[in-house]
Amino acid sequence: MSVSHKKIVATKNENSGIVRDGFGSKLGVIAAASGSAIGLGNVWRFPYITGENGGAAFLIIYLACIVLVGLVVMLAEFVIGRHSQSNAIGSFKKIAPKTPWFLTGWMGLISAVLILSFYSCVAGWCLHYLILMISNTFAGASPDAIGGMFGEFISGYSPIFYQVIILIITASIVYLGVKNGIEKMSKILMPLLLVILVVLAGRSLTLPGAMEGVSFLFKPDWSAINAQSIFIALGHSFFTLSLGMGVMLTYGSYINKKENLGSTVVAISIADTVVALLAGLAVFPAVFAFGLAPSEGPGLVFAALPNVFNHIPFGNMFGALFFALLAIAAITSTISLLEVIVAYLEEEVKISRKRATILSTGVIAITGALCSLSNTPLLSDVKIFGWTMFDFADKITANYLMPIGGLIIVIFVGWCMKKSDIENELLLDGKKPWYSDVFMVLVKFVTPVLIAVVFLNQLGIIG
Ligand code: TRP
Repeated sequence: MSVSHKKIVATKNENSGIVRDGFGSKLGVIAAASGSAIGLGNVWRFPYITGENGGAAFLIIYLACIVLVGLVVMLAEFVIGRHSQSNAIGSFKKIAPKTPWFLTGWMGLISAVLILSFYSCVAGWCLHYLILMISNTFAGASPDAIGGMFGEFISGYSPIFYQVIILIITASIVYLGVKNGIEKMSKILMPLLLVILVVLAGRSLTLPGAMEGVSFLFKPDWSAINAQSIFIALGHSFFTLSLGMGVMLTYGSYINKKENLGSTVVAISIADTVVALLAGLAVFPAVFAFGLAPSEGPGLVFAALPNVFNHIPFGNMFGALFFALLAIAAITSTISLLEVIVAYLEEEVKISRKRATILSTGVIAITGALCSLSNTPLLSDVKIFGWTMFDFADKITANYLMPIGGLIIVIFVGWCMKKSDIENELLLDGKKPWYSDVFMVLVKFVTPVLIAVVFLNQLGIIG
């Protein structure tokens, strides 16, 4: 991670010789961090888990998790990163030398490998759907037939082919160090994705029968909620904001000292939430209008949206553009995930960038293929803790590794960092902002207790 940032910084300050002085503007930080946050988590994962967990009530709990946990963890990561001016492992080593806190950084590394394994698989699905859209495959097909095509596709071997393409694109970009160019390009393309989502939501909402989907998303049925769904909402708030793995911590180390960390965190979280809500508004009205099941699982978006494109003039071209942009949004995420691994290998294991990229991509190609194959009859019966390998990688990261990383991060900030150091990072024009004391209470007590309670309950220890 930090390596690429040094590159960003180096190109910005060729003459100054200062290596780590950060993003040029506040908008730059927000764009880069939102780029990490916004991805398949918003457009693919959010609708499918919201559908599985009963809709509106789940959405409300998810939003509460964003506010009470997500904002606090993100601010905590920014505080550590900007204070230490270092990466996820280095930060802990610098602030608390000779303690095991830095192991949090290694946990982020494992998360990155596991996320890449299933995320590249889903990104590959987008590529395939891009081709299906261009070739107008869905024209005139019934909603059932469209759902069937998805099932048939993922239970075959071709998803591995697309996944490998995604991994090769990702590795080439990371290896060639052209991440900047891609990020610049995505700054133009991502707003376009937003526009398409707005149009899609508009079309979806005007389909006959759409209102049932709107009630599903916004009219809470609290009976659908249990401890398990709270656990899943919490996990997704970490996943969607890229928290608990040191990624935001690293971004924090590049934020200018004058910048207002609090408002930056709020802006990123709002951007991320808006995209998820728009995806929900595109998917659920269509799900109900076409008589699909909201609890369909990971195929939900792929089964629902082609029907909407079928009801838009030039829908196949529009759909192709949508899946192309979604694949690009996914690739910007896979790039930063791979970058996490490559940077750790380079800096901590001291191997060359080329070796680090080839080695990590090779490992992920194998673990990733296992995720793809776990949707086929070949490996669908191989279960880890009762999950297929795909579900294992998805759930163990979002629901366990990332929240545990986040818990450690808030405990570190709340209980190990000096209060004056934290307050220093929150200062605005030399003055303590109103939320400084609120943050101290949240980071010390509220957020760690919330995460711990949800966890202990899930593990059956309390509740
Ligand atoms: N937040 C990303 C999404 O919603 C997924 C993600 C999790 C991620 N951790 C990350 C992306 C780290 C980049 C880096 O799609």
